Amino acid sequence: MCGIVGFTGRREASPVLLEGLRRLEYRGYDSAGLVTSTGNELHLRKKAGRLAELRKHVAAHPAPGCHGISHTRWATHGGATDRNAHPHTSTAGDIALVHNGVIENYAALKQQLQAAGTQFRSDTDTEVLCHLVAHYYQGDLIGAVQKALALVKGTYGIAVMAKGEPGLIVGARLGSPLVVGIGTDGTYLASDANALAGFADKVVYLSDRQICALTETEWEVRDHDLAPASVSVQDIGAFLGDGDSDKGDFPHYMLKEIYEQPDALANAMRGRLDSADSTAHFGGLNLGAQQLRQIDRVIMTACGTSYHAALVGEYLFEELARVPVEVEYASEFRYRNPPIDRNTVVLALTQSGETADTLAALRESKRMGHTTLAICNAVGSSIAREADGGVYLHAGPEIGVASTKAFTSQVCVLTMLALYLGRTRHLSSIQGQHVIDDLRALPDAVRKALECHDRVKEVAARYAGATNVLYLGRQYLYPLALEGALKLKEISYIHAEGYPAAEMKHGPIALVDENTPSVFLVPRGNVFDKVMSNMQEIKARGGPVIAVASAGDRDVVSVADDVIAVPDVPEYLQPVVAAVPLQLLAYEIALSRGCDVDKPRNLAKSVTVE
Ligand code: G6P
Repeated sequence: MCGIVGFTGRREASPVLLEGLRRLEYRGYDSAGLVTSTGNELHLRKKAGRLAELRKHVAAHPAPGCHGISHTRWATHGGATDRNAHPHTSTAGDIALVHNGVIENYAALKQQLQAAGTQFRSDTDTEVLCHLVAHYYQGDLIGAVQKALALVKGTYGIAVMAKGEPGLIVGARLGSPLVVGIGTDGTYLASDANALAGFADKVVYLSDRQICALTETEWEVRDHDLAPASVSVQDIGAFLGDGDSDKGDFPHYMLKEIYEQPDALANAMRGRLDSADSTAHFGGLNLGAQQLRQIDRVIMTACGTSYHAALVGEYLFEELARVPVEVEYASEFRYRNPPIDRNTVVLALTQSGETADTLAALRESKRMGHTTLAICNAVGSSIAREADGGVYLHAGPEIGVASTKAFTSQVCVLTMLALYLGRTRHLSSIQGQHVIDDLRALPDAVRKALECHDRVKEVAARYAGATNVLYLGRQYLYPLALEGALKLKEISYIHAEGYPAAEMKHGPIALVDENTPSVFLVPRGNVFDKVMSNMQEIKARGGPVIAVASAGDRDVVSVADDVIAVPDVPEYLQPVVAAVPLQLLAYEIALSRGCDVDKPRNLAKSVTVE
């Protein structure tokens, strides 16, 4: 969501801050700001809009000094305006603060401060925190921050500077990630280690309620009572995405990431498939064979695209491992009180590893004593660190806000997990070997699926003016229908709904007319004839049909208006292969509508607020 970068050292701060923010901008991009200090002066620069606006502003009005903090914002309280952008400053201008998260009791605190005469200059919850720090500040910034935070309910990752203590940055976290970076030029603070690549050599991840103080040459981390905290200093390399995060020759990150899928899938499988025992292996699962055998139920919890991958996981686990699965939105699961028995494992799926609701659901499950596992992409993220065990995707950084390669990699890892669990149960070694062979062939099948791109462009040109689109599929392809609809609405702002193809008769069919296209997922498989009948029902009502179908399928060609061909794969892998045309369709339609594909309006890559 929002991003934080801080630096104090022996070089100009603003270029470091702007470069760090550039790397985090995809997370939140409605305004940005920074503050630097020289001697006894703070230099505040902030602008609504993309980071480019701040860059221009700083170029025209340089912010000098070797110490500074900065922020890229995704608005929660108050619109995206200059005055709501961070950093916020105290009335006297002696304290500057940036904040990720939400101060839940800000209204009550604001009233108290206003009653005592404080004038507010923004509509944000963050400004409250800044005035509170100023209220307690008497020359000891870390002490003032600790006192202010004691009054706060909610979540925060903060960075604070005081005019009277140049060179000092104080940071603190509760629920929003924060990492200290140690480099030869100075010390750093960031909400994501990737912002510090090439700057810092070592990192220290803060735990909840810890406070840190950084100077040019030193850093310390303390617990909430200011007692020294025990921390581990690690090489930054272990936490950086294993792919490069430049667009290369691609016009957008999203397109690059769609095209990276064959490699991402190969990376997800690397070293994990075991033909000798016809199973899969995972280094970080931390579950013994006996514990594995005892699992009698899995609860999968996630948000957004990861939730759709989990829905595919439900079919996979039930078919390959015969383990019952429930899938629940993390935002709902965290507040429910479902009966969970001893042998239930809670599996969180998340690309970023920082989604607030998924993290809270994981913590609640841990608190209740359940084994928690995570399927996660971001190494060193909060969820990766807090789960009892887990599997990394190794998909490399995903920058486009609309998730693509993380989805297909998640389905791939879920297939391997289902194989692994299945092989401790009923799945024979021959069946296990078939799954391994199918998985090994998957990157090439996805490579082949990418060849549909030109055809997708033609189809996209025909339907880019639609205002409503239905996505319909059955069984393994029902979750993909949800995902296809999500992709389209996220980046093209066209209303789209995903539905089980047969269920559309119970409502969505009322929307069908000659201007409402339906995208049918209808490759050959067990329910092919059923989906064909559903397609006929739409055609009978004059609705245009776009079909994603097996290459060369004449039956589909005779009914659908437009067909996009994908290679044949076993049914349980169809969500991976059929995801490709849906991702490309959303991309091409968004492009032809002039939308900002990588940074769609109102969305954020990593949602760190509830
Ligand atoms: C945001 C992103 C989505 C993502 C969802 C869950 O909404 O825009 O692309 O699917 O968060 O994120 P996670 O990192 O937990 O997978």
